[in-house]
Amino acid sequence: MGCSLDRDEGGYVVVFDIKYDDALPINNERARIIQTIQENQVVIIAGATGSGKTTQLPKMCLDAGFGRKKMIGCTQPRRIAATSIAERVAHELGELGSLVGYKIRFGANITPQTRIKFMTDGILLAEAQGDPLLRGYDVIIIDEAHERSLNIDFLLGLLQNIIRKRPDLKVIITSATIDTMKFARVFHNAPIIEVSGRTYPVDIRYVDDGDGDDYVEAAVAQVLSLIRKEGAGDMLVFMPTELDIRECVTLLEKKVAHGGVPASCEILPLFGRLAGKAQNRVFRTSPHMKIVVATNVAETSLTVPGIKYVVDTGLARILSYNARAKTTKLPVTRISRASCDQRAGRCGRVGPGICVRLFSADDYLDRSEYTLPEILRSNLADVILRMTHLGLGDPAKFPFVDSPSSVAIQDGYKLLSELQAIRRDRTLTKSGKVMARLPLDPRLACMILTARGENCLTEMTIVAAALSIQDPRVRPPEKQQQADEAHKAFTSKVSDFETYLLLWQKYQEVAGPSGSQNKARKYCKEHFLSFQRMREWRDIHHQIEQILRQEHGNKQTPLRFVKNASPAPLDAVHRAILSGNLRHIGMRKDKNFYLGAYQKELMLFPGSCVFGKGGGWIMAGELVETSRLYARNVATIKPEWIEPLALHLCKKTYSSPSWRKKQGIVTVKEQVSLFGLVIVAGRFVNFGPLNPLEAREIFIQSALVEGNLGGHYTFLTKNIELLARLEELEQRTRKRGVVADDAQIFDFYATRIPADVFDRGSLNRL
Ligand code: CDP
Ligand code: MG
Repeated sequence: MGCSLDRDEGGYVVVFDIKYDDALPINNERARIIQTIQENQVVIIAGATGSGKTTQLPKMCLDAGFGRKKMIGCTQPRRIAATSIAERVAHELGELGSLVGYKIRFGANITPQTRIKFMTDGILLAEAQGDPLLRGYDVIIIDEAHERSLNIDFLLGLLQNIIRKRPDLKVIITSATIDTMKFARVFHNAPIIEVSGRTYPVDIRYVDDGDGDDYVEAAVAQVLSLIRKEGAGDMLVFMPTELDIRECVTLLEKKVAHGGVPASCEILPLFGRLAGKAQNRVFRTSPHMKIVVATNVAETSLTVPGIKYVVDTGLARILSYNARAKTTKLPVTRISRASCDQRAGRCGRVGPGICVRLFSADDYLDRSEYTLPEILRSNLADVILRMTHLGLGDPAKFPFVDSPSSVAIQDGYKLLSELQAIRRDRTLTKSGKVMARLPLDPRLACMILTARGENCLTEMTIVAAALSIQDPRVRPPEKQQQADEAHKAFTSKVSDFETYLLLWQKYQEVAGPSGSQNKARKYCKEHFLSFQRMREWRDIHHQIEQILRQEHGNKQTPLRFVKNASPAPLDAVHRAILSGNLRHIGMRKDKNFYLGAYQKELMLFPGSCVFGKGGGWIMAGELVETSRLYARNVATIKPEWIEPLALHLCKKTYSSPSWRKKQGIVTVKEQVSLFGLVIVAGRFVNFGPLNPLEAREIFIQSALVEGNLGGHYTFLTKNIELLARLEELEQRTRKRGVVADDAQIFDFYATRIPADVFDRGSLNRL
C-alpha cells in the first residue's frame, strides 16, 4: 500500500492511499521505480506483457508526487486500450477512481479532477500542436513504445526537444521487448529498469495443413480439438482482420449448437473498433469458459486475463510500402518471430499453457526477427503529409529514432506536390489537409477526393480497396490457361480497373449479405481466386467506407463523402484514378510499348486486359520494374483528361504568333507537356494576355502598318489614303523620301498606341 501527503494551494491536505496488487511483477520493483523516476528526467521500463506496466505505472507516478497541479498523461497505440485501461485503473483506485480519465478521437471523460489521463498517441500529438511544451502534464508515459508506430516515433522526437525546455517534465517510456537500448540512446543514456515477468512454460505446437488459404476454418478445428483433448479452458484466437473475426465467431457459435463447444461458453470478438460494452465482456471474469477471437490488439496492448490456450494464425494486417512500385498496401502478412512469441506468451501467465500455431516450425524460423518500425515501411509522402499537418516540420531535420533516407524524403515532397497536397512553400493545400486526415495512402486519398467531385465514390472505394491488397486472382503455374479461362467471367475488355468492379459485383452476388460462405468458397475455387484475399478486399473496403463516414464528424472542415446511388460512367472513375496516377501515364510508341514520364519506356503487362489493344494513351496503377518496366493495372485514357488534372504540373511552350484579322487578336500556338510527354500538340490561344509586349508589336505591324486591322476606322482609312497619295506623288515627281518607310510608320504608331493595347478590342476601348 502506498501513501503520500501533499499540501495543495488551498492548504488542504491531500492524501492518496493507493492500493497495489503485489501479485503483479512490476510491484516488486515499486520502490526502485519510484526513486528512479524522481531522480531522472527520462526512465525506460521494459517488462513482459502483463507484468503491470500500463496499469501500475500511473499509480506509482501519483505516489512519486506527480499529478498534483498537472496531469500524468499516458499514451496508448489503440483507442480500445485507452478506454479499457482507464476503466481498469479507475476501478483499481476505488474511491479515487474519479482521478482517472481518457480521451480518444471520438470521446472523452476528462473532468477538472482528472489527474491520470489515458489517451491515444494521436491525441497527444494533436495536443502538442496547441501546447508545444505539453504544459498540462508533469509526466508523460509513452506506453508500448516497442510498437514503433509513426505516432510513437513522432512523440519520441518531440519529447527530445521538450525535455530540454521543461526540466520539470518526467518522461517514462515502456516497452514490452528488447531494443530498449535504442530508446536509451536517443534520450542521453536514460536508465533502463527491467521487470522480470513471472511466466509459466508454454507448450508450442505446430499444425501446418498446407495451403493456408482457409485459416478461419483451420483455427476453429484447432479450438475444437483443444477442448476435446485438453479439456475446457479460456482461449485466445488470433486473426488478422475484423471480418475474419466475425466469421470465426459465427462458425464457433454454430459449433456450440452441434456440441463441439460447451453450451455455456462465451465467444467474444475483440478488435479495435469494437463498441465499449462488447469490450468489457472480454475482461470480465466469468465462471464459464471464454473464447476470445482477437486481432493483434491482444498481442501486447490488452491483456485478457486467465488465458490457457492460444490459437495463432501467425497473420496480421501490416502496412507496407513498396519503394520500387511506389505503392502502399495493407496486406495480411506473416508476423515476426517476436510477435509470434508475444502471442504464445499470452497463455503462460496464470499457469502452463498451450499455443497452437497454424504454420510449420520452419515457417516460424524463416520469419523476420522483429517487425520493422513503421517509419521504415512507410511511404515518405504519407509521413511528410502527417508531419506537416501536425506542424512537426521537415522530416530531414526531425530527431527520429530511425531516420528515413534523404532521397526518400525528397521523393515524398515531389509526390505530394504532384498530388496537389502541398504548395510550393510546403504548406498544406485544402485538399492536402483532408488527405492528411484520411488514414490512406496519399495517392488513394487523392483519387477519393477527385471521385467525390466526379460523383463516383461507390466505384472508387471498391477500386481503392483493390489497389490496397494483393491481386486476388491466382494463376497456379501448372494451371495458368485454366485460370485465365476462368477469370474471363469478370475480365473487362477495356480496363483492369473495371475488371475489379466486375469481379466485385459478381462476388457480391454470391458472397454478399444474402449469399453464403460455402457458395463464396466454391466460387473462389472455380474461378481461381484467393478466398482469403477476397475477404481482405471486403475488409479494407469496409474500412475505407468507415473512414469516409467519420470524416463527416470532423469538426474543423467536415467534408461529406456521399456515395453515388446509380452507377457512375467508367470515364469518371478513370479520371478519379488518373488524378492519383499522373506520374504513371504513357503515350503509345508501338503496339504494347509506351513512352512514359521522363522518357521512360513502359511495356503493358501481358496479364493486363489492355494488352494488345491499348489506345494512344494509358495510365497504370503500378509501374513494376523487373526485367523491364511493366505497366500493371492499366486503362486507356483520353489525353484531354490529363491537363485539367495536372494544371499545376504542365509545361507550356509557345511558337508562331500571328495576327488574326477575323478574330481581331494575335494568336500563338501553344504546346502542353507533362513530365516530358506532349499532351496537347498545338492549339491557338490569345497571345495578348500571355505576352502583351510582343503581341502589341505584332498587332502594330500586321494590323496597323500593313493595314489588316479589319472593320472601319476613319484614322486608318485616312492614313492609308494619304499614304497612297504620297506614293503617287513620289512616283510623279521621281523624288525619294516623301513617303515614310514601314519602320517609320511602325514608330509612328508605336509612340501613339498605349502600352496596354494589343488587339482590336483594346484599341476600340481607347
Ligand atoms: O502493461 P502490461 O502489459 O505490463 O500489463 P497491464 O496491462 O498493466 O496488466 C496488468 C494486469 O491487469 C493483467 O493481469 C491484466 O490481465 C489485468 N487487466 C485486467 O484485468 N483488465 C484490464 N482492462 C486491464 C488489465
Ligand atoms: Mg501495457
